[in-house]
Amino acid sequence: MAYETIIVEVEDHVATIKLNRPDALNALNTQLLGELTAALAEADENDKVRCIIITGSAKAFAAGADIKEMSEKSYVDMFMSDFFGKEGNAVIKTRKPIIAAVAGYALGGGCELAMMCDFIIAADTAKFGQPEINLGVIAGIGGSQRLTRFIGKSKAMDMNLTGRFMDAEEAERSGLVSRVVPAKSLMEEAKGAAEKIAEKSMISAMAVKEAVNRSYETTLSEGLLYERRLFHALFATEDQKEGMAAFMEKRTPQFRDR
Ligand code: CAA
Repeated sequence: MAYETIIVEVEDHVATIKLNRPDALNALNTQLLGELTAALAEADENDKVRCIIITGSAKAFAAGADIKEMSEKSYVDMFMSDFFGKEGNAVIKTRKPIIAAVAGYALGGGCELAMMCDFIIAADTAKFGQPEINLGVIAGIGGSQRLTRFIGKSKAMDMNLTGRFMDAEEAERSGLVSRVVPAKSLMEEAKGAAEKIAEKSMISAMAVKEAVNRSYETTLSEGLLYERRLFHALFATEDQKEGMAAFMEKRTPQFRDR
């Protein structure tokens, strides 16, 4: 499919989706979100793809929802279209692992999109924020919910109430991002991580996603039971036999997603 607001590249087993509205700092408008949704579905269905990266430009991962597009909308418009509901679900329903590679601004919906990915690798230039309060609204796709779970109440309140930006170093210290790297090596680092994931059994990788994400939705005892049952279930796969045999035979496993 031909896209206008994103660029999709599949190299080896990694699909890279680059948000590409440079004049608007990758603001998330309806077209971009529709294209992102379609590209994620394509990548999820493409057997060659084993990991996905979402990235932006050096200046902006995404500076939020498109304010110019939203400014005249009414409550009824927002409610009836369930603005961002479908697109947000598309990201979190993607079964293959998704890495957000963030440089520059990740604000509002941009920060929220990054948080919907499985983990965030940040360039040292990254700036995260939920500045919606400056526009007379609040975060709409996870900035008050996911951010609070990731960095705790005090910092989430600070970010959402003051609208201040958090730099990459603070984001790593707070648990929002998994690693910070020099801006020039961001894509190399993200691709390296994606290729590492691509070597694993896709069944185990998908199970990891389900288990970790479940921890946000349930109690500890239910989550532990869910994890244990997934662990037990993986003993029904050929990849478990291969992984353990390879360990004992001191060789690299050849996973076949079976
Ligand atoms: N929507 C639409 N256009 C945007 C935009 C956005 N979120 N962010 C930036 N742009 C546009 C600017 O209007 C500007 O376009 P023009 O040249 O046509 O005027 C262009 O991108 C470049 O931006 P700036 O000139 O402002 O660049 P800067 O370097 O001076 O500032 C910035 C960068 C601090 C990121 C600033 O652009 C900014 O504050 N952007 C808005 C951030 C924001 O409030 N995001 C939250 C949006 S609401 C939301 O996301 C709701 C939700 O939870 C779903």
